Amino acid sequence: MHTVTDIATLRERLGEARRQGRRIGLVPTMGNLHDGHLALVAAARARADYVAASIFVNPLQFGAGEDFTGYPRTLDEDRARLEGAGCDLVFAPGHETLYPQGTAAQTTVQVPGVSEGLCGANRPGHFSGVATVVSMLFNLFQPDLACFGSKDFQQLAVIRKLVADLHFPVEIVAVPIVRAADGLALSSRNGYLSAEQRARAPRLYATLCDVRAALEQGTASDEALRRGLARLVEDGFKPDYLALRRHDDLGVVTDDTREAVLLGAAHLGPARLIDNLPVELPR
Ligand code: PAF
Repeated sequence: MHTVTDIATLRERLGEARRQGRRIGLVPTMGNLHDGHLALVAAARARADYVAASIFVNPLQFGAGEDFTGYPRTLDEDRARLEGAGCDLVFAPGHETLYPQGTAAQTTVQVPGVSEGLCGANRPGHFSGVATVVSMLFNLFQPDLACFGSKDFQQLAVIRKLVADLHFPVEIVAVPIVRAADGLALSSRNGYLSAEQRARAPRLYATLCDVRAALEQGTASDEALRRGLARLVEDGFKPDYLALRRHDDLGVVTDDTREAVLLGAAHLGPARLIDNLPVELPR
């Protein structure tokens, strides 16, 4: 596996792969890799014959007071895991490589509509930071496909709209959430939890499961969501939101909606956890 930190070498390596007619799959990450990331690599491996990953803790998607400085940076372990998973190349640039003028002077990408509300309401500027770096990575790698985890459901919707609106010729592959045995969705931020908080964290997923069951049995959504929020608070979470949206575009659910998604975001101690579940609404 090649480790590349500069743009010229990245373009050389990818140009070579392209000249050999290889289909390029991209796995963008911020590092501190867990089995959820390895599922992205496996999904890329299954669809492409050259798999490239990026590791970049993107300052542009962190707000003031968020965990940019403390975000775990574990490059050596990450490289070993990527190599073991069959990755061909990893791009791990410094900030000055992607943002040579600094982030304040950076041209940015805004994705209206789907970036607003939910995590967008709690983390202003976050999705613009994601859309900007993902656009940059698509331009640099020119991948045939790119794999993203479904835990970040709103991020996936933002990226799908970005690709459609800017006509990026990239297939977006959504990879199912990977969970620990107790149901907690894998996330680099789970590492912030104390042992006691880690034992309590799966209650976010358990609450989503119970709210989904209530919704599928016909409980009114306001009532089901209200009960779910109350339960999260009882369990020691500080919820940002618990929301039911249309599955396809995160629009507001109407009487005609059948395919929905239940999304939750909540702070538990130092970690902000997010999770989601698809919901089949009854007629
Ligand atoms: O999901 C992530 O890890 C990040 O938001 C991404 C897509 C790598 C952009 O920095």
